[in-house]
Amino acid sequence: MDTVLSGIRSTGHLHLGNYFGALRNFVRIQDSYRCFFFIADLHSLTTHPHPSDFHAGVKTILAEYLAAGLDPEKSAIYIQSDVPEISELYVLLNMLAYVGELERTVTFKEKVRQNPNNVNAGLLTYPVLMASDILVHRAQWVPVGKDQEQHLELARVFARRFNNMYGAEVFPEPRNMTFPGGAVKVPGLDGTGKMGKSNGNGIYLYDDEKTITKKVMKAVTDSGPTEPDSPMPEVIENLFTLLKLVSTPDTVEYFTGKWNDCSIRYGDLKKQLAKDICNVTLPIKERIDAIYNDDAYLSKVVASGRERARASAAATLAEVRKAVGFKPF
Ligand code: ADP
Ligand code: TRP
Repeated sequence: MDTVLSGIRSTGHLHLGNYFGALRNFVRIQDSYRCFFFIADLHSLTTHPHPSDFHAGVKTILAEYLAAGLDPEKSAIYIQSDVPEISELYVLLNMLAYVGELERTVTFKEKVRQNPNNVNAGLLTYPVLMASDILVHRAQWVPVGKDQEQHLELARVFARRFNNMYGAEVFPEPRNMTFPGGAVKVPGLDGTGKMGKSNGNGIYLYDDEKTITKKVMKAVTDSGPTEPDSPMPEVIENLFTLLKLVSTPDTVEYFTGKWNDCSIRYGDLKKQLAKDICNVTLPIKERIDAIYNDDAYLSKVVASGRERARASAAATLAEVRKAVGFKPF
């Protein structure tokens, strides 16, 4: 059985983009693959979260992962820092990673531009830590979005380089996993672009009904179609993209008809959209609240995830250490 792995940094809350673009698919593959899903708390340290917020950040994503349907009976769900083998592999891979290739990473260059006062070495070697996350379980499949493809390519480069340098086939080359129906890009409701944490345009699984309704009613629109069957501008297309994700085909058809004959009222469309988003997210929110407050359950999940992840990671590290030439005295 092939191994699938994915991680998410422990900052903020999960939004509809994370859910429809990633999580919902992960939930569906849990029976067919050996799955590892983890919370990247070490990665989140590049931006120096306050110690008093750090744990809550991890707990939030963990509760939201579980509430969205990741099943700790089927998948290993764990915290990155609970698996010290990841950090050990990170040290070893750092010796094979060239500063030049890390400096050329698009995400690194972007961070340097955004935060010129916090260009720490952890930021530069972010892709090495990510490669360690992946290679430590010798995962074949890593579902990532466009912005992470370059990181995944580097994980392949490091895998190949390690295997060549030490003349041992320790690591398979991890590949991006695609899902039936193709990649979903969830748009923001502020005009253009995708929904994202840092874009300030997220509808979160954690939002309550009032918040969701307010966000949707505020979505950018235009002055409406003036001719039948006119092409849709991006802002309206975005509303329909969301509608297609959360509403019934009948509803989508109804509003498409209204658009085509110029009788559409955006207020009605938004009200329906808000209601249908709530239908998807409110049951998840209810579970988030229950799980977040169930410390006994969370600690059981984390312990079992840690155990499974460490068993897998330790087996890899034994081979890695042997290949590099470590020997017991
Ligand atoms: P953000 O962009 O909010 O920082 P992340 O980069 O943490 O989100 O996203 C984790 C995963 O969720 C990504 O690899 C991607 O697959 C998915 N994802 C995030 N935003 C979207 C979106 N708007 N549409 C589709 N998928 C998304
Ligand atoms: N870098 C990823 C992101 O920002 C999170 C991540 C860390 C990850 N390690 C990973 C994703 C390993 C997939 C595999 O979204």
